[in-house]
Amino acid sequence: MNIRRLTIADYRELLKLWERARLPVKPRGRDSRAHIAREMRCSPDFFIGAFDGRLMAGAVLASHDGRKGWLNRIAVDPDYRGRGLAQRLTRAGERALRRHGIRIFGLLIHTRNRASLGLARKMGYVVHDDIVYLSKRDGEHV
Ligand SMILES: CC(C)(COP(=O)(O)OP(=O)(O)OC[C@H]1O[C@@H](n2cnc3c(N)ncnc32)[C@H](O)[C@@H]1OP(=O)(O)O)[C@@H](O)C(=O)NCCC(=O)NCCS
Repeated sequence: MNIRRLTIADYRELLKLWERARLPVKPRGRDSRAHIAREMRCSPDFFIGAFDGRLMAGAVLASHDGRKGWLNRIAVDPDYRGRGLAQRLTRAGERALRRHGIRIFGLLIHTRNRASLGLARKMGYVVHDDIVYLSKRDGEHV
């Protein structure tokens, strides 16, 4: 399995992976080709994929605000699960953030997502059940 930075040439494969992983995608919002291309130009280190030959078997997107980092959209193709690939991607995302001076890593996980919660705990993440996530959106497609 080859783990490498993604480029915009990987865009279609990335969306296909998210579909296979049943992650919600916002193709008219932050997941549009133009939006992802802009993000990749700003943060080329933070889009990471795992490849079995030409097939994208997993991916993770990192981001940070200068203080804390986030690992977003960790996804592994159903055929490649249970082999430690998400752990490798998590470590790769954390390494990329560390290279940018980030030492705190966060994950937002739905409470019903048992696999992701299991992954997070295994990777040393601590659940803060006294914090609630709030967001405000400029529309349903963003
Ligand atoms: C969550 C996900 C990325 C895990 O990928 P994976 O490559 O199978 O995970 P790993 O093999 O690296 O497993 C690491 C640990 O996660 C936990 N885990 C993985 N799958 C699990 C499951 N179905 N139930 C409970 N714990 C699970 C286990 O602790 C596991 O360690 P173990 O195998 O030693 O028990 C994958 O199930 C996925 O893509 N899910 C859909 C997308 C998604 O919901 N992403 C999260 C968005 S926030």
